[in-house]
Amino acid sequence: MAADQRSKADTLALRQRLISSSCRLFFPEDPVKIVRAQGQYMYDEQGAEYIDCINNVAHVGHCHPLVVRAAHEQNQVLNTNSRYLHDNIVDYAQRLSETLPEPLCVFYFLNSGSEANDLALRLARHYTGHQDVVVLDHAYHGHLSSLIDISPYKFRNLDGQKEWVHVAPLPDTYRGPYREDHPNPAVAYANEVKHVVSSAQEKGRKIAAFFAESLPSVGGQIIPPAGYFSQVAEHIHKAGGVFVADEIQVGFGRVGKHFWAFQLQGKDFVPDIVTMGKSIGNGHPVACVATTQPVARAFEATGVEYFNTFGGSPVSCAVGLAVLNVLEKEQLQAHATSVGSFLMELLRQQKIKHPIVGDVSLPRRHRGVGLFIGVDLIKDEATRTPATEEAAYLVSRLKENYVLLSTDGPGRNILKFKPPMCFSLDNARQVVAKLDAILTDMEEKVRSCETLRLQL
Ligand SMILES: Cc1ncc(COP(=O)(O)O)c(C=O)c1O
Repeated sequence: MAADQRSKADTLALRQRLISSSCRLFFPEDPVKIVRAQGQYMYDEQGAEYIDCINNVAHVGHCHPLVVRAAHEQNQVLNTNSRYLHDNIVDYAQRLSETLPEPLCVFYFLNSGSEANDLALRLARHYTGHQDVVVLDHAYHGHLSSLIDISPYKFRNLDGQKEWVHVAPLPDTYRGPYREDHPNPAVAYANEVKHVVSSAQEKGRKIAAFFAESLPSVGGQIIPPAGYFSQVAEHIHKAGGVFVADEIQVGFGRVGKHFWAFQLQGKDFVPDIVTMGKSIGNGHPVACVATTQPVARAFEATGVEYFNTFGGSPVSCAVGLAVLNVLEKEQLQAHATSVGSFLMELLRQQKIKHPIVGDVSLPRRHRGVGLFIGVDLIKDEATRTPATEEAAYLVSRLKENYVLLSTDGPGRNILKFKPPMCFSLDNARQVVAKLDAILTDMEEKVRSCETLRLQL
């Protein structure tokens, strides 16, 4: 039976029987069965069209014809491992190097973000001769054992923090210890890292790396204050470690103004290692690690080969090249700036329109850059208590209104917008109009409950 002819109920029953429940579905109470997608739209088995506000993997748009064609054409000619000389891998490495600061000039190709971060960890350890890692609270860096260990978002629910892992506070100027009224949050948060490093050193630990997403996304769509990374890099380098920028969710022009999100931190800041995934292949399993000559040389000096069966195959590199071509041809980086600014302006208007009423959560603050935007839902302004249940309700109502959105952050109260880069001004208008209608409805419901309560 063709998969798209099977009823949704039958698919769900089969999935429940055959697939581990650890592999979760979006909207578990009423999952969406998606059978095709194009651009920024996804279609269910009934043909209903959803606006996709989540999928940062389908970076240049779902099933982009030029990316699909590049994979198909290369598949017809050759697909093998990178031990044979081939132009695609060198062409691709060259194109990527043109987007990066000069020192980041050695490339490794892999299949997933997790593989990229795991290799970054190995590179850091070989280069520094140290073992320990400093990470930001609530971070997620991948599903391999090595990365669960450096992902507070995961290890806090498992067997806890290893002795070689040290956690620094998220540089969150809304919820963290240093907020928007602090005179220099960048220095204050970087000093927290310095303190974490010193405490580790006092226990005889040696720092190999600081890992951070250039914009912490799982942590709640956080924009670290400018200058924070340079300060952190100074402390980490002093301790003999390297700076790893995880660009797996936020790279490839998503932030609009720059190609890489770490570039928001200033021209002078250059990480020692950059990891890429997700958007790099528009859905095809591609990932990459870029690093400096000294870091790569230290790894080579071990004499151990780095072999990855699928990484850097002619097809993967053709896909990666096609993604870069589309980004350029369709000027998607500039598009992310203009649509992102427009969406943020609409969200700002929502904030004005929906004052706090009782304990109804409302968007009180937006934060974002390009097409990486978060809306922090709170129960009240004074305490900034995360409006977790309200956020979940909003997301499920939006789904009923054919908008796919999700939440992030430790309180799961941050609405996250990270749509395919072809998301349009019109999409922004439609989504915010639906958000507005649902919020208005929520407020009315609360008002009528309040009236009823007073009458009783
Ligand atoms: C920031 C970040 N790093 C790494 C990963 C791991 O990537 P993958 O799932 O491709 O292994 C993810 C995946 O969600 C991620 O969000």
